[in-house]
Amino acid sequence: MKTINLNNVTVFVVKDYKALSEKGASIIAALLMTKKDAVLGLATGSTPQGVYEELVRMNKSGEITFKGVHTYNLDEYYPIDKSNAQSYDYFMKENLFNHIDIDMANTHIPNGMAENSTKESSSYDQKVRSIGGVDIQLLGIGSNGHIGFNEPGDVFEPMTHRVQLDERTIKDNARFFGSIEEVPTEAITMGIGTIMSAKVLLLLANGEKKATAIKEMLLGKVKPRMQASILQFHKNVIVVVDESAASELIAELKE
Ligand code: GLP
Repeated sequence: MKTINLNNVTVFVVKDYKALSEKGASIIAALLMTKKDAVLGLATGSTPQGVYEELVRMNKSGEITFKGVHTYNLDEYYPIDKSNAQSYDYFMKENLFNHIDIDMANTHIPNGMAENSTKESSSYDQKVRSIGGVDIQLLGIGSNGHIGFNEPGDVFEPMTHRVQLDERTIKDNARFFGSIEEVPTEAITMGIGTIMSAKVLLLLANGEKKATAIKEMLLGKVKPRMQASILQFHKNVIVVVDESAASELIAELKE
């Protein structure tokens, strides 16, 4: 494993997806071992699936417990029913919650069926604040640099909000749906301010498709067209990437 230190960001470059999943899970497990009532910010997408598998294994073997843990997910499609297999609610149950000893009452995901999305968004931020904030926020990254569903735009949205999905995101996520027409065009996502208020940000990325986004996030200008670049302003960021996702970053650092 190679470590790159960039001011506020520690980048671990690992060999492959398995190593990435183990590294990501070990960072979360270390928190759970020292803080029984930890607050986790969770993410969906294909990237964190291996981390969840590893956390399930550790929970089953008794290494960690989720009994006192609270979770807040980054985002949810809008509108979408919880029973839809592509909803992030369904994803979290399938990939994590159904297999660990967490109290389901302590798990939180924006409600994709909320009648009033503005009210849902502000009450979500309120809930995160009232528990004292997130200890570790797990993040993936979109190929367009989005975090959560904060899409490239003209501003960094501070609070949880309803958002129109970017064309590229709809295309990227079509692989999970029957057809591109079935991908919801909107979502509710934590805002950049909500994400940045977490004590530690843990971003994972694998595969060549993420190489440009990783390089721009860490070495490019901080700008809302590359939402993840805001991480350069957070004081405690851990990035775990495989060699393919790190390729452009490493090439640029060599120049
Ligand atoms: C999704 C999610 C993000 C995720 C990203 C990457 O649309 N909203 O939270 O990080 O896109 O997904 P994947 O890990 O499948 O590449």
